Amino acid sequence: MTNTGIRLVVLLILQTPWLPASYSADGSNPAFNLEVSKQESIYHSQGDRVVEGYTIDRSLKDYIRGLPSGFDDSLANLGPKDRWLDIGAGKGQAILDYYTPDYDLMYPEGRALRGKKAQTVAMSIEDRRTPLWRQTAASLEPKQIQYIFNKRLREYSLDELGQFQVITDVIGGFSYTDTLSQFMERVLGILKINGSFYTVLQDVHTEEGTNKPFYAGSPFLTEIAKTDGAKMKVCEWLKSISCVEVTCESRTDWKPPLEAFHVRKVCDGVAVPALDMVHYEAGTPPERRFKLKN
Ligand SMILES: C[S@@+](CC[C@H](N)C(=O)[O-])C[C@H]1O[C@@H](n2cnc3c(N)ncnc32)[C@H](O)[C@@H]1O
Repeated sequence: MTNTGIRLVVLLILQTPWLPASYSADGSNPAFNLEVSKQESIYHSQGDRVVEGYTIDRSLKDYIRGLPSGFDDSLANLGPKDRWLDIGAGKGQAILDYYTPDYDLMYPEGRALRGKKAQTVAMSIEDRRTPLWRQTAASLEPKQIQYIFNKRLREYSLDELGQFQVITDVIGGFSYTDTLSQFMERVLGILKINGSFYTVLQDVHTEEGTNKPFYAGSPFLTEIAKTDGAKMKVCEWLKSISCVEVTCESRTDWKPPLEAFHVRKVCDGVAVPALDMVHYEAGTPPERRFKLKN
């Protein structure tokens, strides 16, 4: 089923009217609360009942194909003292692939530097660990590979998580959060200087600005408006964060197409322009609109 199909089915089953133009900041809007509970049931769908379109098992090859160029080199050059966090890891397949002998065959150059490889943390709201995850974790040194769950990124303190050289997010928290600017603040708080955040969004107005929404009659999946209501591209918003260098790349071979973002932290004075969420409709991923705060 298409993304729109899933969104429509969820919508029809639950007979939800369109949401009002904005939500109250305290989350007391019943329409928003309903979308949140629909989203929760998507996260917690299990077995045969995993909602169609909610993909939880992308491989490292899929990550390399979707994320910005440079991600594979960054990963291949991590040493044993470095750390990689995957936000919204699903089953953690990309991390598992990193520890296979096949990975070293694919990237023979950095092998000596990598040694026993970087430490990795997979984060997911729901626990999707598989027997393969447990087997791999048992075969590695303690803490080499960790799976943390039951909380969203924003619910972890900086101390709890520590800092990372590489952070990835493939249609995870960056695509699903209703608090996008706080999400970016937290990501940049746990990113080391010169570290990289690699992520994507599906179906957004790209930096070049030549694309239209993938589903005729629907908006882009994530939209940002400036204070005067004028549209702002996600790439432009990311570039307005201080102390980061950002590149944005289109990925038209994905359906819906992606925009891939590389955010490199270059100094400590990070300031993320704050956004208010004004629309959130549950889905895989949800449809979201944000507005720049004054
Ligand atoms: C569609 S799955 C993607 C899984 C994996 N990246 C893949 O491509 O197969 C979405 C993942 O994002 C997680 N997620 C969504 N919002 C999150 C947040 N705010 N913080 C942490 N994880 C989040 C979900 O729990 C789930 O693990």
